[in-house]
Amino acid sequence: MSAAAPEPKANMGPPEPRIDGRLKVTGQARYPADVPVSNPLYAYLVTSAIARGRITSFDLGAARGVPGVADILTHENTHGDVKQPKFFADGGYASTSIRPLDSAQIWHDGQIIALVLAETYEAAREAAHRVKVNYVEETPTATFDDAGASTQLAKEARKTHEDPEVGNFDEAFRTAEVKLDEWYSTPTQHHNAMELFATTCAWAGPQLTIYEPSQFVYGLQNGVAEQLGIDPEHIRVVSTFIGGAFGSKGSTTPRTALVAIAARRLGRPVKLVATRDQGFTIATYRAETRHHLRLGAARDGKLVALSHEGWEVTSRPDAYMVSGTDTTSRMYAVPNVATNVSIVHADRNTPGFMRSPPETPYMYALESAMDELAVKLAMDPVELRRTNDTMKEPIKGLPYTSRSLMQCFEEASRTFGWSKRNPQPGSMRDGDWLIGWGCATACYPTHIAPATARVRLTPDGEARVETAAHDIGTGTYTVIGQVVAEKLGLPLEKVAVLLGDSQLPPAPVSGGSNVTASVCTVVAKACDAIRSRLGNPNAAELMDALKRQGAGAIEEYAENVSNGPPPESLPLLYKGAVKMAGGATLKDRIQYAFGAEFVEVRVHALTREIRVPRAVGAFAAGRIMNTRTAHSQLMGGMVWGIASALHEATEIDRRAARYVNDNFADYLVPVNADVNQLDVILVSEEDTKVNPLGIKGLGELGNVGTAAAVANAVFHATGRRVRDLPIRIDALLA
Ligand code: MOS
Repeated sequence: MSAAAPEPKANMGPPEPRIDGRLKVTGQARYPADVPVSNPLYAYLVTSAIARGRITSFDLGAARGVPGVADILTHENTHGDVKQPKFFADGGYASTSIRPLDSAQIWHDGQIIALVLAETYEAAREAAHRVKVNYVEETPTATFDDAGASTQLAKEARKTHEDPEVGNFDEAFRTAEVKLDEWYSTPTQHHNAMELFATTCAWAGPQLTIYEPSQFVYGLQNGVAEQLGIDPEHIRVVSTFIGGAFGSKGSTTPRTALVAIAARRLGRPVKLVATRDQGFTIATYRAETRHHLRLGAARDGKLVALSHEGWEVTSRPDAYMVSGTDTTSRMYAVPNVATNVSIVHADRNTPGFMRSPPETPYMYALESAMDELAVKLAMDPVELRRTNDTMKEPIKGLPYTSRSLMQCFEEASRTFGWSKRNPQPGSMRDGDWLIGWGCATACYPTHIAPATARVRLTPDGEARVETAAHDIGTGTYTVIGQVVAEKLGLPLEKVAVLLGDSQLPPAPVSGGSNVTASVCTVVAKACDAIRSRLGNPNAAELMDALKRQGAGAIEEYAENVSNGPPPESLPLLYKGAVKMAGGATLKDRIQYAFGAEFVEVRVHALTREIRVPRAVGAFAAGRIMNTRTAHSQLMGGMVWGIASALHEATEIDRRAARYVNDNFADYLVPVNADVNQLDVILVSEEDTKVNPLGIKGLGELGNVGTAAAVANAVFHATGRRVRDLPIRIDALLA
């Protein structure tokens, strides 16, 4: 046991090392772009240099003259080849309804406008840079407040959207003894997974194989089938390893169908690895948000009124929204709540899910506001959370299935040494460094989706489990293997786990932190079916029972739809549609995982350089399958949270609606020197209502709350409240 592999407490599984770890660190893990195909052509994207307007013509002479160039696809020769896809939030599969290479229209900067195919990557790249494009340019709208931005209420954009409300906010806020009324904002961010957006397509007759990193192979299979107008049965998606995703590889982006069309047209496999900067515009991202928070409280700290209004940027055609007021309206006991979400259409690529999509920006605003309220009340911020803790959400009065928020605060504050904090801002100092301590609540909705799996046990004591789930770095291979090993009484190394292939039994998207709950549940079900066929012997006698039966291997296929999703969501899973349920969407209960995060910042008194020497997070997420992989997820989340607070932001040139820092030199992510000591405490929790195994997802829990904790610590160090992320030196110098 070590810090990275914590000793399991009650209701926690052992810190088994990742079963795919050796393959990964020895370079044997084959990521989609690594898969060799016979005699490929290489594709290189040409993307739009303007954000709004039309292409009037291409001059392809110089590009075609590059030796090795095989073809150049533009809207002029591929118009109509890709069918109009349906945006995923409208019930389709696509990350955007924008259809590149279909018309001359430009919807956003960096839109795919041509695909160059050549014998080598180098030739394709050179030719792509020789493509000359003539445009008629219109003045684009980049973001909030720019001319041409059009604002739409979320409930008008999407019929299913509800703005949670209860009681009478206006009256309660008007008469509240203590009030807070502030605005917060979060910037544009891009996932920037280490692995680039890559796609290889190979046809064998009518059969298409796609190698692409994906969080949802069934979704991609069906999404590409829709765009090509072919039967999904004719498409196989292989995504055995994924080098980071964070939401960016969850839906079908336009590139895949284009690569498939190129491969069909030229009769050869085609390989595309988009560049880092192209990744900023050919896939999704976290759009910038704004928040207006109003909190009213009694002198004793009890909340009486809460209003959360949010604004989010989206593209012209697509109504993407995260609308995190579902969470912030239910976090604390408050009888009068009003919420409202609006989306603002601009000339941008369509945003999408990015790690804890609603909670990261919306909880940042709420948890900053809670800290400001604590200051106004002259109350300890932990006590303010305790005063307003609740086992019932306030909107409909539904019970939390379990909620260990205050246990998390207690364990984290003890480890952090919070009791030694002097609440006076600027009062804790070490030489030239101003010390600030801040904290915030972390939370994430607990989801489950339908899932299927096949498990096979052979008389030589080996098991194989097959399910089209994905390991996006989270440890899915390992925890699924652990379930089989435990249920069938086998050593973990005797279990083979097959994931990431649309020819395997369908499993849901690796999103919404649902997979451990959804897939472990169905794998356990398949194992139980095997045990039951053998007369339910105990684990030690299972192999004897199998041999006695004399029928060779035994195999079970299981389907599960339980604990929220309706029965009809199971057949939909086979079509690549996921109806996960949980969080605040259930009729009889509300289910979330919780955490508490404490951060120390040091701000240099003269230069205002900001450092985070230590952070402590305590998290309770029901049954922990593996303390090592859980620790790793939570730690990574907190590092991301520090990045959200201090580093990450995509800068936009507002005149051109273009991303400026679309590279790893200028898009800042934290490195080891930015994160010194980081403690993750796993808090024991048992929850019998969320699903049969009592698992709450935690992949997206760790980075919720961190940014607010840092901002609150910066206030404590300096007396300066920065409400716009990321917090940079200039905000503290002004
Ligand atoms: Mo995650 S942003 O739910 O893929």
